[in-house]
Order: sequence, then structure tokens, then C-alpha cells
Amino acid sequence: MSCSHCDVSRRHFIHRLGRWGLTLPGIVVLAGLMQEAGARKAQGAPGNKGEVRISLTEHPDLQRAGGFVPVNVDNEPVIVFRDEGDAFRAVSRVCTHRGCTVDWVTDSKTFVCPCHGSVYDRTGAVSRGPARRNLAAFSVIFDRDDNTVVLQR
Ligand code: FES
Repeated sequence: MSCSHCDVSRRHFIHRLGRWGLTLPGIVVLAGLMQEAGARKAQGAPGNKGEVRISLTEHPDLQRAGGFVPVNVDNEPVIVFRDEGDAFRAVSRVCTHRGCTVDWVTDSKTFVCPCHGSVYDRTGAVSRGPARRNLAAFSVIFDRDDNTVVLQR
């Protein structure tokens, strides 16, 4: 059984990749990065109601500026980033268009949806549709005493 709509969408998406300057080697690098990130995927530890605690000891990528870790929060894919100093942010990977899981593209520092091509900037703000709403962001607190990052909705 074929899916003519899917073929059109796939063709359209590949066309868009070309417009963004993503070539086949770039896509391969992206796939490799996401595979590596997937291998390091972590599960956040439940904290108090409505919060998830992520240990920096268990996630060394968050011990340096520019590091990031994919985690699951109540089965929702999320990426936690460490910016400069003790500044952290966490962004949901659930596309606001139709719910596909967006990929983080390190080179362009964007989230790209593989389904219909929406692009979000590093903060999760929409920079290209069809999505109209930004990716959900979590409130993030660094608990220095416990060396953990605390995510809250
Ligand atoms: S689900 Fe349609 S652009 Fe992401």
C-alpha cells in the first residue's frame, strides 16, 4: 500500500533540506549526532510532584558549557542544554504542528522536524512553519548543592 501524501511530504522535506543548505554529508553527520545522542539518552529521576531531577554526575555532558543531554520526562522527549556558566534550559522535542519528534541539529543550532519541515531556533521558537507555536520549554533550576538540574513545567 502506498502513501502518495507521504511521498509528496518526503519529497517536499528533502527539497527544504536543500534550501537550508543541508547536503547529504550534512544529513549523515546529523544522523550520526542523533544516533550518538540517542545512545546517551537518559531518564530523568522523578523529584517532587511535577519536577524531574537530572544528576550532572550521571550526565557529564552537562558539566561543560555547550553540552546537552536528551532525556525523557514522563515519556516526553526533551533536551537539556547547558549554556554559559550555570545557565541551563530544557526544550521539549514534541513538534507543535502534529506531534512528531524534532531533531536537534548542532551545526545550525536548530530543531528540525522530520515530518513536515518545521524549524525552531535554539530556544524552541518557531523560525519556519508549518508549526505556529513554539516548542514547550521547561523551567530549569540548578541545585548546586545536589549537583542536579531540576526541570519543572
Ligand atoms: S509534525 Fe508537522 S512539522 Fe512537525
